[in-house]
Amino acid sequence: MAGTLPCLIFAATLMLASIKSSTASRMAKPRCQETCGNLTIPYPFGIGEGCFREGFDVSCENNSIYRHNSSSRIKIYNISLLGGQARVTTLIASKCFNETGGWAWLNTGKFFTISTKANKLTAVGCNTLAFLGGFNEHRVGAGCFSMCADRRSVDESGQCSGMGCCQTSIAPNLNFSNITFDDRFDNSEVSGFNPCSYAFVAEQDWFRFEASYLEDNKFKEKFKDGVPTLLDWVAGNEYCDEAVKNMAIPTWKKDAKVGNSLPSFGFTSSYLCINLKLFLCS
Ligand SMILES: *[C@@H]1O[C@H](CO)[C@@H](O)[C@H](O)[C@H]1NC(C)=O
Ligand SMILES: *[C@@H]1O[C@H](CO)[C@@H](O)[C@H](O)[C@H]1NC(C)=O
Ligand SMILES: *[C@@H]1O[C@H](CO)[C@@H](O)[C@H](O)[C@H]1NC(C)=O
Ligand SMILES: *[C@@H]1O[C@H](CO)[C@@H](O)[C@H](O)[C@H]1NC(C)=O
Ligand SMILES: *[C@@H]1O[C@H](CO)[C@@H](O)[C@H](O)[C@H]1NC(C)=O
Ligand SMILES: *[C@@H]1O[C@H](CO)[C@@H](O)[C@H](O)[C@H]1NC(C)=O
Ligand SMILES: *[C@@H]1O[C@H](CO)[C@@H](O)[C@H](O)[C@H]1NC(C)=O
Repeated sequence: MAGTLPCLIFAATLMLASIKSSTASRMAKPRCQETCGNLTIPYPFGIGEGCFREGFDVSCENNSIYRHNSSSRIKIYNISLLGGQARVTTLIASKCFNETGGWAWLNTGKFFTISTKANKLTAVGCNTLAFLGGFNEHRVGAGCFSMCADRRSVDESGQCSGMGCCQTSIAPNLNFSNITFDDRFDNSEVSGFNPCSYAFVAEQDWFRFEASYLEDNKFKEKFKDGVPTLLDWVAGNEYCDEAVKNMAIPTWKKDAKVGNSLPSFGFTSSYLCINLKLFLCS
């Protein structure tokens, strides 16, 4: 159906340039809170009734944005509209030689999934077998093993190579994960230089292994608020025509989504849609 084609797909770089240079443009819906601390809250994210799209309800606490009403408390600190991604903090699973268990779970909520491209399951420890169990449409899993019998067998080069640190890919489209350890491996034999093991899902480009992370509880102390994880999001699955209609924004201008040139930002408030994602611009 030609009439329900998704809107124009603009060159992402052009769009980005326009959004950046147009400092006056509103990213939030009219009459909605626009910033939280030094962060901008772009629609579909929003605070309070009528300001967000279902699933993108956030709150602002201590100048930080949190997913509101989600069963895992997720702090958001970077939102990319064009990429459809959000950088959040997630918790580290840890287990010391004198403990059992140790797990960390994440429920991303509807419309969000853990980016398989950007993130890796990473474990830090010297006799450590970490697992990630998760769901996409299937029950899936991943795991990695790291071993270093003594301090000299720890990789000092910053690489995550299996000697004090290991990494593995995770399945796409996970909206639930639970990171655990295999109790058959623990830190009791290596507790002299590595009392604890850690595992987490974090951005691969962010993480760099340091041998000192094996000492005491240094790693957990350094990242007590969590580690950065990139989530992908989509603002619903409807075609944009449908989505725009459903939002019933009176100021929406039809001409913002037709034609073959970049719309000017002279509209008072218009929605654009790129790859089925909605953008508010002004
Ligand atoms: C935003 O604020 C946080 C702390 O509130 C700070 O760590 C960060 O550097 C600030 N970012 C920018 C771009 O100013
Ligand atoms: C905000 O800061 C207060 C005081 O430091 C603290 O008690 C509270 O837990 C913080 N809230 C969040 C969500 O971090
Ligand atoms: C939280 O979500 C539940 C179920 O999704 C809903 O019934 C409830 O109204 C929500 N609470 C708030 C404060 O949004
Ligand atoms: C947000 O993400 C962009 C793109 O990855 C990056 O350039 C920017 O530094 C990030 N900002 C923060 C506060 O992490
Ligand atoms: C286990 O040992 C670690 C590191 O020495 C310590 O921080 C932690 O409190 C201990 N935990 C228990 C349950 O004794
Ligand atoms: C996770 O995704 C699956 C498959 O798409 C879905 O059935 C399930 O309800 C989702 N779980 C949550 C918590 O959103
Ligand atoms: C995660 O796995 C651990 C160990 O199997 C289990 O005890 C815990 O209940 C799981 N957490 C969730 C939220 O499923």
